Amino acid sequence: MAAADICLCINLILSADGWDKCWEEGLTPWDLGSPTPVLLHLHNTGSLPKGRALLPGCGSGHDVVAIACAERHVVGLDISDNAIKRAAQLFSGSPKAEHFTFLKTDFFTWCPTQLFDLICDYTFFCAIEPKLRSMWAQKICDLLKPDGELITLIYPIDDHEGGPPYKVSVADYEEVLRPVGFKAMNIVDNELAIPPRKGREKLGRWKRTVHQSSL
Ligand SMILES: C[S@@+](CC[C@H](N)C(=O)[O-])C[C@H]1O[C@@H](n2cnc3c(N)ncnc32)[C@H](O)[C@@H]1O
Repeated sequence: MAAADICLCINLILSADGWDKCWEEGLTPWDLGSPTPVLLHLHNTGSLPKGRALLPGCGSGHDVVAIACAERHVVGLDISDNAIKRAAQLFSGSPKAEHFTFLKTDFFTWCPTQLFDLICDYTFFCAIEPKLRSMWAQKICDLLKPDGELITLIYPIDDHEGGPPYKVSVADYEEVLRPVGFKAMNIVDNELAIPPRKGREKLGRWKRTVHQSSL
């Protein structure tokens, strides 16, 4: 995508209904058009918790479908109607269709009736305004079962100004996740990052070690 298109995309996002306009106009430079390799690898090697999984800001839903299976129902949610329509259009005929659900809703206000065993965040944390990061952590905490796992793909780790995507660091995640009781179990460089993101992406696996009631 040309620099002018990236500027147009940022301006659209910052406007009212910005994400939806980006999806409507096809200005989605973040969309790989295929599953995120490391998530697929974790799924294929049996390294992801079973049960119920949530992908907030799921976009066109490739990751949702990639990790959905008989042992794991995956909910992909996105605030953009056009993103969810695109996901439904791409995957409604999937043989895995009974193992995933797409929802058009706002992550920050959504209150499901059941909690999750796994939440995966990829390019959602970096998409939201940095002042919302504490709210993001609190919401993750509220949505995850006490022994559930949070997987974050920590990207983009660099020094650029502005966003979205806003720059991130491991410390940025720790700063908001620690106060709600999460501890990193494992943080490694993502060797399976796509070439343009290699060296700027880490895989973080987090669990709650302190429960909110006892904080
Ligand atoms: C950078 S895109 C990433 C999409 C997808 N995770 C991917 O990697 O292709 C961020 C996504 O978050 C969605 N989003 C932004 N704010 C949201 C919110 N408050 N609740 C749910 N989704 C939101 C946008 O519509 C957009 O699809």
